[in-house]
Amino acid sequence: MPNLWYKNAIVYCVDVEKFMDASGDGTGDFAGLADRLDHLERLGVTCIWLNPFFPSPNRDNGYDITDYYGVDPRYGTLGDFVEFMHAARDRGMRVIIDLVVNHTSTDHPWFQAARSDENSPFRDWYVWSKEKPENAHEGMVFPGVQDSIWSYDRTAKAWYLHRFYDHQADLNTANPAVREEILKIMGFWLALGVSGFRLDAVPFLIDTKGMKLEPGSFDPYSLLTEMHDFMAWRRAGAVLLAEANIPYSDAPAYFDGGDRMNMIFDFMLNQHLFLSLARGTAAPLRHTLQNRPRPDGLGQWANFLRNHDELDLGRLSIAEREEAFAALGPDASMQIYERGLRRRLAPMLEGDMSRLKLAYSLLFALPGTPVLWYGEEIGMGENLALPEREAVRTPMQWADEPNAGFSRAATANLIQPILADGDFGYQNVNVAQQVREPGSLLRSITRLVQTRRSTPEIGWGEWELVDVGRDDVLALSYSWRGARVVTVHNFSPEPVSFPLEIDGIDRFEPLLADHDAQSAILRGETLDMAGFGFCWLRCDGPRK
Ligand code: NOJ
Repeated sequence: MPNLWYKNAIVYCVDVEKFMDASGDGTGDFAGLADRLDHLERLGVTCIWLNPFFPSPNRDNGYDITDYYGVDPRYGTLGDFVEFMHAARDRGMRVIIDLVVNHTSTDHPWFQAARSDENSPFRDWYVWSKEKPENAHEGMVFPGVQDSIWSYDRTAKAWYLHRFYDHQADLNTANPAVREEILKIMGFWLALGVSGFRLDAVPFLIDTKGMKLEPGSFDPYSLLTEMHDFMAWRRAGAVLLAEANIPYSDAPAYFDGGDRMNMIFDFMLNQHLFLSLARGTAAPLRHTLQNRPRPDGLGQWANFLRNHDELDLGRLSIAEREEAFAALGPDASMQIYERGLRRRLAPMLEGDMSRLKLAYSLLFALPGTPVLWYGEEIGMGENLALPEREAVRTPMQWADEPNAGFSRAATANLIQPILADGDFGYQNVNVAQQVREPGSLLRSITRLVQTRRSTPEIGWGEWELVDVGRDDVLALSYSWRGARVVTVHNFSPEPVSFPLEIDGIDRFEPLLADHDAQSAILRGETLDMAGFGFCWLRCDGPRK
């Protein structure tokens, strides 16, 4: 039997340097993260995803690596990593880590060797061109900040490919030595106990742009199969989670029936979910779910609201994106890369608790595995004074204490300013206060997590859309091993009432809702929902 733990997992993404500073030098570290695992345990997290923590000049938040086999000294030692792994395992939490092998930092010794000697074995580890390629100014991932995907290197006397910033040179994955090294990196971290990888930038990793290849000599997807096979041999139950903002038509090749990716982040659903929130109707989300490929038994979509990057709305039409911008981030300072918003969820929804709770209930109710970004559980805000995506990466707000309880360093020495003052400043938004407050977002999300964990129908079961005859409401039904659950979400600010009638169900028992008092509903009885209300119901009736 395959181990499908990831289908009912609660994934929580942490940036070590921003979470908790135990050493007191102003930067978060592994010892601090280990100290704060109690918070994640209380929340109900089952899997921690670590953003890159490897040695790096940190010009792209660690996604620019100079050594794949170590821990950046600012976060501790490899020994501290192992201690953290032990502490997480003690609490029954798995750990997955970012695997960033589309590119290395240009400071990486491999690139340094490649650029300085044409005959170096590392030369062919990267993608070069003697002439400036014609398409050099097309296909940038960070338009407005990056103006080319090829840069000239004076030492190499050649152009190198970089789909991201010019300090991130793309690796030549057609080179067998590069592929072997990728597997070795995986083997190293698997040996230290990780349960898999969030694979960075997969569409670019399997792109053959600029590579000198004989037609038909190389199938880029084979890299994904190799990686998956290797991982499964080394560690049963480990997973590959793809960061791939792809059209749905590409998804089957990424999953390949469970032989390549176990999970893919559903960027398509994410963007339409935000359009739904902006419009106050479930229609875009419902339409997207209807078109979403259903991975076979081994595959799973990963759902998220926000992450460490911008909210990318590039797959909406121009008019839809404008609509979302107007509702969620109207100021030019909130927008980025001609397609996205560098905002956290709570300020986007103007701190409106009913909308926030609706959004998180949805996250846990959508078919797939939910992924949280640290700080979401308390509704942290963004700092638009910081450059680019740094806006959404401010230090964790633990308490209304100096430096928000993140660090005892002098404030001037912090890795990044703490969000202070205003509605989302640490004085108003912090863990300590929300632990105490019964109606807090933290308490609501904790309850959602617990309910989701005890509702395996959602992660493991089959799902279908339920037509309740209204555009503003999303109703989903899930069944697994003869048990059935229904969730209902009202996207509109207005209360709604409608009869709840689903074939084969006699009675709906309340599991969870936006309000406490709720009684069972019999077949055909009216369901009354508040504006932005939601409810999860367990169904009784003849079993299928
Ligand atoms: C995707 C990551 O999520 C992003 O933060 C990073 O800048 C790029 N990949 C490049 O690694």
